[in-house]
Amino acid sequence: MTPIYQTSTYQQATPGDHKGFEYSRGTNPTRKALEDCLAAIENGRFGLAFSSGMAATDTVLRLLKPGDEVITGDDLYGGSYRIFTRVYAQYGIKFHFVDTTVPERIAEQINKRTRLIWIETPTNPTLKIANIAAIAAIAKGTGVMLVVDNTFASPYLQNPLDLGADVVMHSVTKYIGGHSDVVMGALVMNDRELYDQLFFYYNACGGTPGPQDSFLVLRGIKTLHLRMQAHCENARRVAMFLRDHPRVERIYWPGFTDHPGHEIARQQMRDFGGMVSIVLKESSLEETFRVASSFNVFALAESLGGVESLINHPATMTHGSIPRELREKAGVVDNLIRISVGIEDADDLIADLEQALD
Ligand SMILES: Cc1ncc(COP(=O)(O)O)c(C=O)c1O
Repeated sequence: MTPIYQTSTYQQATPGDHKGFEYSRGTNPTRKALEDCLAAIENGRFGLAFSSGMAATDTVLRLLKPGDEVITGDDLYGGSYRIFTRVYAQYGIKFHFVDTTVPERIAEQINKRTRLIWIETPTNPTLKIANIAAIAAIAKGTGVMLVVDNTFASPYLQNPLDLGADVVMHSVTKYIGGHSDVVMGALVMNDRELYDQLFFYYNACGGTPGPQDSFLVLRGIKTLHLRMQAHCENARRVAMFLRDHPRVERIYWPGFTDHPGHEIARQQMRDFGGMVSIVLKESSLEETFRVASSFNVFALAESLGGVESLINHPATMTHGSIPRELREKAGVVDNLIRISVGIEDADDLIADLEQALD
């Protein structure tokens, strides 16, 4: 097994004469083994690991200068929306929020100041699907970089670099880590120059993870394929059960043939993932809270992608930082519940949903 190099600094023979490692903010052997592994599972050449998904996002945004513009989705993880609008907007960077399920909406916003297209697919939490290859074709030749947040799909289900993206971003905290015991982020890319630029900010700003967490994620990756298969199978069972449930007004799961993104999901993903979101019928915030708090097998908690099933109330938890009007426009209403389907016995999960919705 990869040793945990609990090491901050490395002895040098004479100044500059070292064995590839100088100081662990920049490089650490355990982290390097993980970064090579992350690159391999995303079919990329270079990987970088960060102390959180947000630190990975932050490092990409550091490539921008005042006056630059970014095109991104109108249905995004709340923390991505927050770093765009409350951190980087104050440095003179302009963000356009569009419906990324329609590639033309992105094409319309490109101008000579556009530097970056940032998409999530499937989106968090309404599981909209963006056509990665079509958006990559729009970006190609314009000098605009396409970054795909691949957190919801995981590298087992979708590889954006193969579809023409420049960078893949992950909240490793989720499926890649897989056990709700590590917070970490990652970037994977093919272009050497882009890697060198991102590595500069990674080392200069220092949002890098420690060796113990790198070890845990290396261990998590060994079962990624098995976990993802179980997540997908269980999510299918849960989605089928909830689809006709009398308390469910709407259900989001890209595996349904009538989901608007189903065909594209079928083309660019290997299965439909472990996330399901539902809107409860005629349910006040109070009643939605009551349902969200009455599970026994599912735990009410932020995050997703761990082996244990989680229930989340996006409007007040993960997406609380998005203003109500914008949030509701994207479908993140007060009676929406997001379900991260774990790998427990599917019958137990369904029995728990049955009693909570009773
Ligand atoms: C889609 C998506 N992107 C990015 C993040 C941020 O990652 P982290 O929490 O590891 O900083 C999250 C976290 O929930 C997420 O769901």
